Amino acid sequence: MTDRPITTTDAGIPAPSDEHSQSVGPNGPLLLQDHYLIQKMAHFNRERVPERVVHAKGGGAYGVLEITEDVSQFTKAKLFQKGARTESLVRFSSVAGELGSADAGRDPRGFAIKFYTEDGNYDLVGNNTPVFFIRDPQKFSDFIHSQKRRADNHLRDNNMQWDFWTLSPESAHQVTLLMTDRGTPASWRHMNGYGSHTFLWYNAAGDKFWVKYHFKTDQGIKNLTADEADRQPHDVHIKDLYEAIKRGDHPSWTVQVQVMPFEDAADYRFNPFDLTKVWPHADYPPITIGRWTLTRNPENYFAEIEQAAFEPANFVPGIGPSPDKMLQGRLFSYPDAHRYRIGPNYLQLPVNRPKNEVHSYNFDGPMAYRNPTDPVYAPNSFGGPVADPELWKGESYEVAGEIVRSAYTLHREDDDYVQPRALWEKVLSDVDRDHLVSNVVGHASAPEVTGDMKKRVVEYWRNIQKDLGDRVAAGLGVNGS
Ligand code: NDP
Ligand code: HEM
Repeated sequence: MTDRPITTTDAGIPAPSDEHSQSVGPNGPLLLQDHYLIQKMAHFNRERVPERVVHAKGGGAYGVLEITEDVSQFTKAKLFQKGARTESLVRFSSVAGELGSADAGRDPRGFAIKFYTEDGNYDLVGNNTPVFFIRDPQKFSDFIHSQKRRADNHLRDNNMQWDFWTLSPESAHQVTLLMTDRGTPASWRHMNGYGSHTFLWYNAAGDKFWVKYHFKTDQGIKNLTADEADRQPHDVHIKDLYEAIKRGDHPSWTVQVQVMPFEDAADYRFNPFDLTKVWPHADYPPITIGRWTLTRNPENYFAEIEQAAFEPANFVPGIGPSPDKMLQGRLFSYPDAHRYRIGPNYLQLPVNRPKNEVHSYNFDGPMAYRNPTDPVYAPNSFGGPVADPELWKGESYEVAGEIVRSAYTLHREDDDYVQPRALWEKVLSDVDRDHLVSNVVGHASAPEVTGDMKKRVVEYWRNIQKDLGDRVAAGLGVNGS
């Protein structure tokens, strides 16, 4: 006998052998009655859940949000009240690569946070950029297809990426940010996070505000040049975060919000719900509200990170959606993805389960673990839970109009190029500009990018800014169309 635990089957029965299958004689065929062998092989075949259709490669950690300022005049959300401390989980990710892809390539980075609040889970599923490539969810799957792999040879294809981008001028702002060195962050610790969309906040009196979230890295922004990014070890970012937290070097972010009075939205100079635009800081200065710090690594990657399920639709009282069409599309998309990827009871897994008590009339289904007690329906006269509409008072606002399929109504200064032009002209340093040009030229010089496409690429950048376009033209050796 050994003092080590005895291997068991998954039913807890002592295992007959860790090495040998049951056979008819040492050299004979194997038997179907070897339940242990069959269980091992069958379970192994089911180890993977489908990878996320986007943001497949990532890593994460647990942290805490601490609110240091009083913003009760803007929201009654309990997690944002001064002095509140809220446990959270983050998952950082790249977008286009598969589960085993390299960490350092040019891509936006996902910045998805789940706050385990006393009113249930609040999920903020953002990126390391404040804007996005498109402004209508109708285009999302097409956009992603253009960034992933071709149908014929299963290769990624820069020609197809530029084809989509140059046919979608609303992509100009995000592509400009992506092509700066912020498209290749040095680590997840050294980048900002943005909620990107505009969200609704409402206070206890029911007053409404529009907000944008900014998580500013306290480690400082650090990026890689394209050459440095090419030379990074495959799993550089997941390792960096894990090791920093392990050695007690806990990364933190200063949490800021931009707040717009509800009534300003109607005639703000930009459409404030358009995900391809920021709110310039001069219009709505960022207000610091607290700090968010990562303190603990997961103990099991699959259970806590691969099975983590973030949903932009998880709002708590005091916070709600805006009419941003992209956000509206995402409200449906994520829980639908989780039901497929993990299963309909994904919210019962420890990492996704809220820390407060759940009193829901949803039950049963595959792998149900939280089982109902009677009464199992509402309304009932047997003391079952009842909803509280008061909690959501303040969330509603009036909307009217004809049912259409149409672009957003334009505001005074709406234009696809004005904000990326401001980035080039007013924000980027000379070195940033040099790298932006060489990153674009490098990307559009891939062998599959055709001569005609290069001309379209030049026009795309000339529309943003003439000098920028001319420099791209010179780098690509074409003159435009
Ligand atoms: P400001 O000069 O007030 O702010 C510019 C902001 O740009 C900075 O605060 C910083 O925000 C961000 N930034 C600084 N360096 C870089 C860089 N190398 N690459 C990308 N972003 C950088 O101007 P505005 O608010 O009027 O914005 C001007 C342009 O700046 C916008 O059109 C947009 O392209 C870009 N920008 C604006 C942001 C906003 O929320 N207003 C956020 C990010 C970029 P941060 O520390 O948040 O990165
Ligand atoms: C992941 C859809 C836009 C950030 C995903 C997933 C889907 C999806 C289906 C995989 C979810 C899973 O399997 O767990 C969409 C759709 C969009 C959209 C339909 C637009 C209509 C955006 C935008 C952002 C964003 C604008 C950021 C501002 C993320 C992040 C993840 C993700 C961070 C990874 C979450 C995680 O770590 O698990 N998206 N997305 N997405 N998306 Fe989006």
